[in-house]
Amino acid sequence: MNLYKYVSDAINEKLGTAVNLETPRNREFGDFSTNAAMVMAKGAGKNPRSLAAELLPQIADLDFVADASIAGPGFINIKLKDDFIWHAAKDATKITQPTQLAIDMDYGSYNVAKSLHIGHLRTSIVGDTLNRVARFLGHRTVSYNHIGDWGRPMGLVIAHIESLHPDWPFFEPDFDAEKINQADYQITAAELDTYYPTASARGKEDPEFLDHARKITADLQNGHPGYTALYNLFLAVSLDMMDGIINKLNMMPFDKTLGERNASMHLDVVEKMLRDRNLLTLSDGAEIVTVRRDTDSEPMPPFMFYNSRGADTYEATDLAAIWYRKTNDNPDKIWYLTDARQQLHFKQVFRVAEMLDLFPTENLEHLYFGTINGPGGQPFKTRDGNAAGLLDIIEMVEDAVRTRTADAGKELDDDTVKSIALAALKFTDLMHDVKSDYIFDPAAVTSFEGRTGPYILYTAVRLGNVLRRAGDIAPTTPMPATLGTDERNLMIEILDFERTIHNTFETRSPDILANYTYDLCQLINTFYHNCPILRDDVPADVRAGRLYIAHAAYAALARAIDLMGLRIPKEM
Ligand code: ARG
Repeated sequence: MNLYKYVSDAINEKLGTAVNLETPRNREFGDFSTNAAMVMAKGAGKNPRSLAAELLPQIADLDFVADASIAGPGFINIKLKDDFIWHAAKDATKITQPTQLAIDMDYGSYNVAKSLHIGHLRTSIVGDTLNRVARFLGHRTVSYNHIGDWGRPMGLVIAHIESLHPDWPFFEPDFDAEKINQADYQITAAELDTYYPTASARGKEDPEFLDHARKITADLQNGHPGYTALYNLFLAVSLDMMDGIINKLNMMPFDKTLGERNASMHLDVVEKMLRDRNLLTLSDGAEIVTVRRDTDSEPMPPFMFYNSRGADTYEATDLAAIWYRKTNDNPDKIWYLTDARQQLHFKQVFRVAEMLDLFPTENLEHLYFGTINGPGGQPFKTRDGNAAGLLDIIEMVEDAVRTRTADAGKELDDDTVKSIALAALKFTDLMHDVKSDYIFDPAAVTSFEGRTGPYILYTAVRLGNVLRRAGDIAPTTPMPATLGTDERNLMIEILDFERTIHNTFETRSPDILANYTYDLCQLINTFYHNCPILRDDVPADVRAGRLYIAHAAYAALARAIDLMGLRIPKEM
């Protein structure tokens, strides 16, 4: 149940207004407060306090209101009836979502033969969570790992392998895939990791090598059998590595691993569409589409369909991918999650997609991220000063958890350490506004106290243990004679779960979910400290009541944790 909406709709209907409810900092006088009287007084030229006094009986009359009172310049404070909250708490995590959307979500989107780095962290974590939230709300999503599997890096890597293994058969003009034994040509993940950086560096110094790599790329794209066989060899290694990361990050599997290569197969269709509409112009040997609008205040260079060497561009493949998705999934929306540097790219692509009547630009959304910085505020590096790979980062966080638990004299098994590290890493990412930069400090994010993943898990483990020890809980427990403040506050927070999920989705802001989860944990822990449950001196009806609350709280917390893609360990 969305308590906030329920109460606010009822009040607005009663008063014939449309104002927002507030949740007062000091809950003593009210669970909610409304400035309706102040807003209405302005229009009617009345004194807000006296109008509030006039409206008070109407609000007090609502069947869920225990008490209404005037505060300050004309706020009306509203206290809810205990039994109303009590019964509502049972279904706190049941959600109503009247309209279902079909969304294609493009996130992760890793690159073949290039190692995954810190820049892929946010797109993976945020993408996975938004996908989980969308599905929980009943939307139909198709997730795409739009891999970078077809550009110049492929040619560079093949050229590099050629110089390492000139004797391999892939480079012979009469190469025949039937005649070789694939098993004789092994490339390990660790080797592959070094190929692209080495080749790319060499390409910068050695124009001949670069030219050769370009030629290979073009030949590969035209179906050269040897290059294709070699490509398939390291593609498999790359896909394996990606799977490892997806698994390690506890992400849902992608529905489709289809990227630039797949899109490039559909360039013909898109090119025809562009030509039919006379949108392509020749400019310095390149074929471009003008996307500038008179209203643009920022530079808006043309969209490049073919560059001056006639090669397919990143823009072109993204346009073709939109065509592909429209044709195959016909989604209402496509979301793209990448870092902020790709903003211009997507603006251009979206404009051309609109010109081709594929999608209006408002249905194509680019959700972009700020940068993850190290404790000094500079881009995050590993201890040896290198750009951090995704696996290095995960390992660093796991080490930080091990150090911390060893310092505290705890012994945790490896699975638990991994779950805690994952929570630390993901939660800090999710709790920051996606567009802003944030500082990543492995030691800080693994703390068991404060706004951290481990704190969230710890709260869940502890509450879960109480519930396990208590055994079965009756779904309809009578309300005890009185409800304490901590019990009420916790229940009201639980009843904010649904609104949180809707807001997270509507604003594409996982930080709303993460920070809600933290607030919920704080209230759970206050409740845990102040309201003993299983202690011998607790009267039976009070215990049953508290278990009922604990149960509802756990349901909301466990769901939130699941939506963030974290795992609750058995013990901590
Ligand atoms: N592979 C790209 C990168 O690693 C991200 C691709 C994003 N998706 C897209 N449709 N362009 O930066």
